[in-house]
Amino acid sequence: MEKRQEIYRGKAKTVYATDDPQRLVMHYRDDVSAFDGAKLAKLDRKGETNNRINAWVMGKLAEAGIGTHFVSLLNERESLVKAMKMIPVECVVRNVCAGSMAKRYGIEEGTRLPEPIFEFFLKSDALHDPLVNDDHIRVLEWATEAEIAQMKALTHRVNALLKPLFANAGIDLVDYKLEFGHPLDDPQGELVLGDEFTPDGCRLWDAKTGEKLDKDRFRRDLGEVIEHYREVGRRIGVPL
Ligand code: TMP
Ligand code: ASP
Repeated sequence: MEKRQEIYRGKAKTVYATDDPQRLVMHYRDDVSAFDGAKLAKLDRKGETNNRINAWVMGKLAEAGIGTHFVSLLNERESLVKAMKMIPVECVVRNVCAGSMAKRYGIEEGTRLPEPIFEFFLKSDALHDPLVNDDHIRVLEWATEAEIAQMKALTHRVNALLKPLFANAGIDLVDYKLEFGHPLDDPQGELVLGDEFTPDGCRLWDAKTGEKLDKDRFRRDLGEVIEHYREVGRRIGVPL
């Protein structure tokens, strides 16, 4: 596999083409962003930390039979992934009320939910990722009814798998965001998980103290952001 030209630069990752049109290199940079790109910084070692945590999570999902775009870890900051046609919506599952849901409905952050709540958001920084429902997605043709059902089912399956894995590491999986797509070599097949699963896209709280171990440390200026990301890695057994 040969790495070729840059094809997309996101807020925290850069994607490169390879000599195989079905494969891309995902490069994790040290950049961190919040509030749809309004707050930006660089955090030393964030790229390698997230690359490794993501590889661990993707491996666990694959073991459980959940399809992902992840192919292999290439080096400290890069992973090989399947080229995908992504669905432009974000899937969020919440086990505990926090963040935008707490604010939207005036519920105290930290309120446990009797069962997980699923939410869709439109992926658009310019529009600040508005909350959308199944009808918006289907009627505006961002995804089909079958794809909507698959995204919900897969996001809940990820929760059923990851919640106990993090709990075993003394971490509460509060909420997280997933993105799905179709691999270019299987455009009609089942959706598979794309993007990443790292402390940038989820909330992780210490199960005993409630201490935040995720990107809220950056959003809310709590300090020691990367130290806490690496603590997550160490607790789940990722070599960092
Ligand atoms: P929220 O509380 O801001 O709606 O976010 C819920 C979870 O999803 C939180 O763990 C952060 C993650 N998320 C992202 O990482 N990116 C996004 O664009 C959105 C909407 C949520
Ligand atoms: N919307 C997400 C956040 O506020 C991602 C980002 O802006 O980088 O964290």
